[in-house]
Amino acid sequence: MKIKIAPSILSADFGNLNSDIKSIEKHVDLLHVDVMDGHFVDNLTIGPCVVKDIKTNLPIDVHLMISNPLKYAKEFAKFCDMISFHASLFSKNELKKAVEEIKKLNVKVGLALNPDDPLDLIIEVLDDIDYVLIMSVYAGFGGQKFISKVLSKVENLRIKYSFKKNIEMDGGINDFTIKKAKKAGANIFVAGSYIFKNKDRIEAIKKLRGVNS
Ligand code: DX5
Ligand code: ZN
Repeated sequence: MKIKIAPSILSADFGNLNSDIKSIEKHVDLLHVDVMDGHFVDNLTIGPCVVKDIKTNLPIDVHLMISNPLKYAKEFAKFCDMISFHASLFSKNELKKAVEEIKKLNVKVGLALNPDDPLDLIIEVLDDIDYVLIMSVYAGFGGQKFISKVLSKVENLRIKYSFKKNIEMDGGINDFTIKKAKKAGANIFVAGSYIFKNKDRIEAIKKLRGVNS
């Protein structure tokens, strides 16, 4: 399965967002946008009006860490290609409906699980979604330490549930932790601080891909 690198703009310079994006654009596969509402998580970030002004040829992958994804997904969907939201917000019945509703917006739909959320939350909708986002830190902030216990969820998805679609791993990804995440079976890797806070961003991306220059 093809490996994809998705830099999270959370660690970019928001005052120079488009030039920061340009600095890595040719070397990566997706652009990960972390949306936080100060309610579902403590932190507060950006809304659709910022996503609208992002200039990039990369597919935009919006990760909603908000309490009411159904209310805002439509506006984000105008400016992005993928939307994930947190499965823990919904009961099992409601979750199926929520996935269907976001699918209608013509974007790829993903379900996100925080480190303590069990796979059980999403098993019944695996056929309906396009990807799973496994959080390897607690949603809310960049720069946290990778939590290894989440790797078993990736392994179970691949082996026990034969999940063949994309598994995105988000949080604490660096040149060391990405190896564990790949081994477990993830194929999209979100990296914020490791890329944007690195003096040599291109070299950092090469290291994530396992290429030494
Ligand atoms: C955390 C976000 C992540 C975060 C990753 O809530 O979902 O995307 O920005 O940042 P790093 O790579 O610094 O852990
Ligand atoms: Zn994220």
